[in-house]
Amino acid sequence: MLKSPTHPSGPTRQLSTDQASLSEAVALLRAGGTVAFPTETVYGLGADATSGEAVARIYEAKRRPSFNPLIAHLPDAEAAMAHGRFNAAARTLAQTFWPGPMTLVVPVSPESTICDLARAGLATVGLRAPSHPSATALLKAVGRPIVAPSANLSGHVSATSAQHVLADLDGRIDAVIDGGVTTVGLESTIIECVDDQPRLLRAGGVPRDAVRTALGMDLAVAEGAGEAVIAPGMLESHYAPRARVRLDARQIDPGEAALLFGPAAPAGIAQASAVINLSPAGDLIEAAARLFAALRELDAAGTATIAAAPIPKVGLGEAIRDRLRRAAAPRG
Ligand code: TXA
Ligand code: MG
Repeated sequence: MLKSPTHPSGPTRQLSTDQASLSEAVALLRAGGTVAFPTETVYGLGADATSGEAVARIYEAKRRPSFNPLIAHLPDAEAAMAHGRFNAAARTLAQTFWPGPMTLVVPVSPESTICDLARAGLATVGLRAPSHPSATALLKAVGRPIVAPSANLSGHVSATSAQHVLADLDGRIDAVIDGGVTTVGLESTIIECVDDQPRLLRAGGVPRDAVRTALGMDLAVAEGAGEAVIAPGMLESHYAPRARVRLDARQIDPGEAALLFGPAAPAGIAQASAVINLSPAGDLIEAAARLFAALRELDAAGTATIAAAPIPKVGLGEAIRDRLRRAAAPRG
């Protein structure tokens, strides 16, 4: 077990977003510690990307399979672009969507200080400049690239609040910065730009249509795990609540928990053990922001099955459906 130099054991420090707290977080990160922080997508579990030991603490805290490469976070596009080789498409995406919920996978530049372990030994690197003001302030103050996978135990749903982070990681990480509930609620969209054909590795906070518009061309779509593991986050049961998830449920069976979307009440709703509507108004952005918290809440209610109502396949609906499909995937 790798001990953190600063907080060898014991409870996780709960920090706010004020200046003194950020300074404390910066000191912890520079000393090789693990600090969870808010981004606009989900909470990230941060560590110094230039230190193999610091990165290893993340894998350990998350109990994450070590072959998963991590995303390195930088305060802005300029800082991020120093770590990779950006072709024309990558530059366009960086200029259009950074800071924001977009990760670009590009060939790592020879000057990059991001360590091998952070990249899981790949010749490419995942880079992102988040738009959350506390994340930006933290990254600026640290002055090093910070790797940050979603701040949850591996295989659990991503954390969209500091409380969710603590539910999974209390005592396993040095600190968490509480910046409230995240606004986007889904992880970043991941686009690989290594050759002339940009490829969608993970649907996320930036809808595919917006990417297509910015690039003036269609994206290729990487098929899910099973093929060459390009984005191991695509592992089928990655977003797994304890309960079984039944997709596109148009009626609720007795005792099931219901995850609804839109104004319609499905048949059998009166016999549901619990009900959460992601967005009674049918707003996909609101639904995305509430998805992980809703899965956790229904899971915590102890139901055997979560019946998820159909989500339209447009805009952020694609990413929401993707997460639900993973949550529903068979697992061992
Ligand atoms: O919104 C987000 O992206 C959040 C916040 C904290 O920034 N982070 C996040 O990280 O979702 P994580 O580790 O849970 O998911 C990162 C995904 C993984 O599927 C990983 O395999 C993929 O990014 N990835 C990272 N570097 C890669 C690379 N060089 N090639 C292919 N996939 C990569
Ligand atoms: Mg994750």
